[in-house]
Amino acid sequence: MKTILDFHEKKIKKQKISMITCYDYSFARIVAASNIDCLLVGDSLAMTMHGHKTTLNASVNMMALHTAAVVRGAGDKFVIGDLPFMSYRKGLTANMTYVEKIMKAGAHAVKLEGASGNIELVRHLVDSGVPVMGHLGLTPQSVNQLGGFKVQGRDEKAQKKIKEQALQLQDAGAFSVVLECVPSKLAHDITESLEIPTIGIGAGPDCDGQVLVLQDMLGMNEGFKPKFLKTYFNGFETLKDVFNKYHSEVVESEFPTEKESYS
Ligand code: KIV
Repeated sequence: MKTILDFHEKKIKKQKISMITCYDYSFARIVAASNIDCLLVGDSLAMTMHGHKTTLNASVNMMALHTAAVVRGAGDKFVIGDLPFMSYRKGLTANMTYVEKIMKAGAHAVKLEGASGNIELVRHLVDSGVPVMGHLGLTPQSVNQLGGFKVQGRDEKAQKKIKEQALQLQDAGAFSVVLECVPSKLAHDITESLEIPTIGIGAGPDCDGQVLVLQDMLGMNEGFKPKFLKTYFNGFETLKDVFNKYHSEVVESEFPTEKESYS
């Protein structure tokens, strides 16, 4: 996928969209060579790449640095850059300065969490030529307000609110919306009600697309096994074994040999 028009077309044709997070050049090159549709430089990089406990520590500078690295490896894939915690709640001028940084780092679109208080900004961004992806349900930047990383939209009142917010984002011009950790039925209903595609994570099978955090789906985050996650590789154990093999070959003087040496 190269532009937001492809998102629109996939929704119309009922073709699923695959998205994966990515934070560096090396992985971006592998994703670029794969069939995956688009990449998200998620603020989850505060956790996966920088070891923080939540995404609150992601900064605009961090996001811009990682976005630029990903874009250099991503070929012609569509890259979305996350707007980090607080960076879009500081008033229009400051917000726009931060968005400009992420876009000038090479992102083709930005993603922001929540709808309340963001709708005018979404409209302004879209009017300024910046495609916006929304993010509803479990919005990790609000982890302290939500009281933890919990499934959202369990009761009727919460479901109504998320449905309304999805429509508000669509009306403001968002080209897509991530639904994170909400019941499948709610994600199904929102997906049916919107003209723009929904991208689910922990939102069941009926969204228009899916996203997973790259490190999680590669099994790099040992012990992290929420219900929604499918791991496609035992990354932690496999890579540990590789490092151990290298270590033992070095200490046993099995590497390097003549083959890896210059005459
Ligand atoms: O930051 C992130 O990785 C995300 C995805 C989980 C959607 O926002």
